[in-house]
Amino acid sequence: MTVPETPLAETAPAKINLHLHVTGRRADGYHLLDSLAAFAGAADALRYQPGGPLALALEGPEAGALEAEPDNLVLRAARLLAEAAGRAPEGRLVLEKHLPVASGIGGGSADAAAALRLLNRAWGLGWGTARLAPLAARLGADVPVCLDSRAARMGGVGELLSAAPALPAAGLVLANPRIPLATPAVFKARRGGFSAAAALPDSWPDAAAMARGLAACGNDLEAAAIGLCPAVAEVLAALRALPGCLLARMSGSGATCFGLFATPAGAARAAGHLPAAWWRWGGGFTAGGQPLYSAAEQPERQ
Ligand code: C5P
Repeated sequence: MTVPETPLAETAPAKINLHLHVTGRRADGYHLLDSLAAFAGAADALRYQPGGPLALALEGPEAGALEAEPDNLVLRAARLLAEAAGRAPEGRLVLEKHLPVASGIGGGSADAAAALRLLNRAWGLGWGTARLAPLAARLGADVPVCLDSRAARMGGVGELLSAAPALPAAGLVLANPRIPLATPAVFKARRGGFSAAAALPDSWPDAAAMARGLAACGNDLEAAAIGLCPAVAEVLAALRALPGCLLARMSGSGATCFGLFATPAGAARAAGHLPAAWWRWGGGFTAGGQPLYSAAEQPERQ
């Protein structure tokens, strides 16, 4: 194995559930889902330096809510990959947290997926996504979709991925009232029956058509999340009132909500109108639902 001379790095972009239907429940209590996921330029960053026993340090504006405990998903991902590869886990990882913790945009899942990608390279394994995916699924239902960080249709409990409609480039505003929501609590609070999977076209020509199409779907966890955290309703109302907002909806199990806009520039301007006390981000995704990084967010990758 060649030892890199500069630290290796990976970005861990936020996952946005453009719709989320709960279609059933498994015997083990996990819920069956139908969801269309896309990725935003808002992201955590993970860096690696070789040498020494496996260690994790946390930094960045959202690091305060997390502790580098042994059950941190990044460390669990590293140990799982090392075990699967039959080698000792090694190296110093630094996780720069920008995404709020427990907020419905898959921050922890994205971090775990980034750790698998990063250590796959750093340890010289050269495994493809197909070989990493089963490990990802063991770390959490949302981790497989984060491996590729591009739009995908999620089925099963989230781990069964299929092709998404061809997504147009779009603007996106993300807003979170700074109240963490535990995913199991939101699933538990959900009332009512199950939904059918959404009927989606093969493609949408532009963001407005996508917003009209998505308006026929929903997020089946929204009402439960509002019950536990009424501020989610305020965030949705504030997003809907922004100039140019085409659709506002909660992502995942909340409390982060997103607004869809025609352009990333329009979304970035609109985000500035939201209360400064909230976590807020404006940008977008590229055609294909991949993260669109602004110059400031452009990850350093070797
Ligand atoms: O897989 P992950 O650790 O992200 O899930 C966290 C919790 O969310 C699970 O323990 C379960 O309570 C709930 N969940 C669910 N159905 C899913 C995904 C998560 O009930 N499809």
